[in-house]
Amino acid sequence: MDVQRLVEALNHALAQELAASIQFFWHHVLSQGRASPVLRQAVKQLAIQHMRHAEVLAERINHFDAIPTAQPEEIRIAGGFLDMLRADLSLQQQLVASYRAYLDLCREEPATHHQLLHLLTEEEENLDVLQSWLDQ
Ligand SMILES: [Fe+2]
Repeated sequence: MDVQRLVEALNHALAQELAASIQFFWHHVLSQGRASPVLRQAVKQLAIQHMRHAEVLAERINHFDAIPTAQPEEIRIAGGFLDMLRADLSLQQQLVASYRAYLDLCREEPATHHQLLHLLTEEEENLDVLQSWLDQ
């Protein structure tokens, strides 16, 4: 197994998770008065979940004696609530694509494979949730 390649992949996913956590949390804050409190709370819960995902990845990278990145991917802070949801959906789609691509890299690393599969499952569920909000 190419550990360096796996660590690079995990760090890329970590940078996406950090971006998602910050972006979703800022959208929760900035949507005050523009969206229902229930929906805003749900966005905040997703932000917290992405930070937990970042923690899982950082711990995994640390396990391989590598340095987890603290640098998020590009963060897009949108104006209207609909644009916020679209920006969040786009980032959510990128996360799903990354986990699907990186699962193959860790076939010989069962613990990492198991964790990425769990993260992918949660990201796919989030994707469905975000899509359902946009479809309303
Ligand atoms: Fe996540």
